[in-house]
Amino acid sequence: MCGIVGYVGAQQAAPLLLEGLSRLEHRGYDSAGVALLGGTGLKVAKQAGRVRDLADSLPKRFGGKTGIGHTRWATHGPANDVNAHPHTDAKGLVAVVHNGIIDNAAALRQRLSDEGVDLVSDTDTEVVAHLVARSEAGTLEGKVVDALAAIEGTYGLAVLHVDFPDRMVVARNGSPLLIGVGEKEMWVASDLAAVVRHTTTVAHLDDGEIATVTAGGFTTYGGDLRPVTRSAVTVDVDPAAYDAGDHESYMHKEMLEQPVAAERVLRGRLDDRFGTAHLGGLNMDARDTRAIRRVKILGCGSAYYVGQMGAALVEELARIPADAEAASEFRYRDPVIEPDTLYVAVSQSGETIDTLLAVQEIRRKGGRVVGLVNVVGSAIARECDGGIYLHAGPEVAVASTKALTNMFLGFALLALQLGRVRDLSIADGKRLIAGLARIPEQIQEILDREAEIGEVAQQLADAESLFFVGRVRGYPVAREGAQKFKEISYRHAEAYQTSELKHGPLALVSEQVPTVAIVPDDELTDRNVGALHEIAARRGPLVVITHEGVDLGEVQCVRIDVPRNERELDPVLLVVPLQLLAYHAALRLGHDIDKPRNLAKSVTVE
Ligand code: F6R
Repeated sequence: MCGIVGYVGAQQAAPLLLEGLSRLEHRGYDSAGVALLGGTGLKVAKQAGRVRDLADSLPKRFGGKTGIGHTRWATHGPANDVNAHPHTDAKGLVAVVHNGIIDNAAALRQRLSDEGVDLVSDTDTEVVAHLVARSEAGTLEGKVVDALAAIEGTYGLAVLHVDFPDRMVVARNGSPLLIGVGEKEMWVASDLAAVVRHTTTVAHLDDGEIATVTAGGFTTYGGDLRPVTRSAVTVDVDPAAYDAGDHESYMHKEMLEQPVAAERVLRGRLDDRFGTAHLGGLNMDARDTRAIRRVKILGCGSAYYVGQMGAALVEELARIPADAEAASEFRYRDPVIEPDTLYVAVSQSGETIDTLLAVQEIRRKGGRVVGLVNVVGSAIARECDGGIYLHAGPEVAVASTKALTNMFLGFALLALQLGRVRDLSIADGKRLIAGLARIPEQIQEILDREAEIGEVAQQLADAESLFFVGRVRGYPVAREGAQKFKEISYRHAEAYQTSELKHGPLALVSEQVPTVAIVPDDELTDRNVGALHEIAARRGPLVVITHEGVDLGEVQCVRIDVPRNERELDPVLLVVPLQLLAYHAALRLGHDIDKPRNLAKSVTVE
């Protein structure tokens, strides 16, 4: 959410910053801007709209070899030219880009205004520029520390000052920030995507740290300017993984990558001999595992829905009571943290602030948290006591697909390992391992039918409102299907337990309101088919995601059969057609798939 990039070195910064910003647009695309330090002081160009609009309107002579850039997802004030970052002080000496939220911005704005400062924007960030400019410290680092002392809230920020043209000073508290190390040039970024084509050697700042970045290197400090050692590491990542290639969108590319991504999360973790999984990163031995009395899964949005699928897996395979909860609500209800509960935080980005704060709350109260996280070294991954990396590869599209598949598989591995230390038989363990091994190929089978599923989506795209229904294992699948559909098609898509339809929502079913029903071949098939009859009797158009051979009776519907696997693993296959339905409906409606309105990847504000 919001993207930051910075450069200091021997090259002209503007084109590098613009390229970095275009790689960060999934984090916010309301407005964009850059600030450069050059021979003639500080120059700023910023405006509402996309990075390409900014690039088109940049003045010809916009030179400078030190610069910062920002792509915005509005929090304080509408998306307009003035509210775009970078923000400057009144004399144009200081420029600041910022991600996060300054909680006491209103009080600081009032104080500055009382002192005669003319605030020009509606943003919280602008106060930082004024505070840095007003500090009497002799160094830029000192000025930034003075400014931060007045601020309450979260930030990842980068600061330029005309009196210190050789450097950027950056700071982190709750919003990701990394330093990229090049050959006599250095970078800063909120996300590796911005710099990965230039360097894969990076250092992550921790909360409360600040750093000076010059062309020759970087120095990190604690908040009191006492140096702290933070060394850069080279990450093993293919820069091409951050490109959409020949695909018309990242979402399309990422959906199609699911079979390969699924293989990666399973690789080396399945033990057929003992019918179990090997998850060394959990840092839990058999004794720890046996002591677990409950599992509580925390995630946001789609990660929360996959968490519900994960809870069902844990309960079925390990027979440990398990449930999932929206991490965004968790800490506000003053939860009881139990020593014998295993808490599991699930997150693609590893930076979602609601999930991170839930993890911190649990740890503060002495609970044990493990993470299912995609981004290696991210804040949640670092905060947890152990975990399972998802190895889905970089996910750029706002609508998550391959990371969610891998989350499900991560939960299956966790449930298997927990189960085999408890009552799951070796035979059942082996049965599930064989099922898991088939998943990548079966996802591919579904993806190969994209054209057919895309046709079905054309019919759904015209509906203003839709239901997605499922029962027990199928309910979180329906929730995820509705989520994907609404976020990129902007249609009202509501998920319900099929069993609850007749307790109210059936009143809305009509020829204009289609239902997408999840009807796997399981112990609830007959009951699900009964509900299909009730919908059909009200002339509700039906799309049924089911298995080959399931008898849907005389019900008029479009059916999409997915391959059979072990029942416990059904959800991961049932969800794939729903991704394709959402994608093709959005495509037909002409939406920008990777940049759905009002949303951004990685929600780093509460
Ligand atoms: C939906 C979607 C979001 C994320 C949620 C959590 O497609 O992507 O609902 O699942 O914002 O994000 P992470 O997994 O990064 O914590």
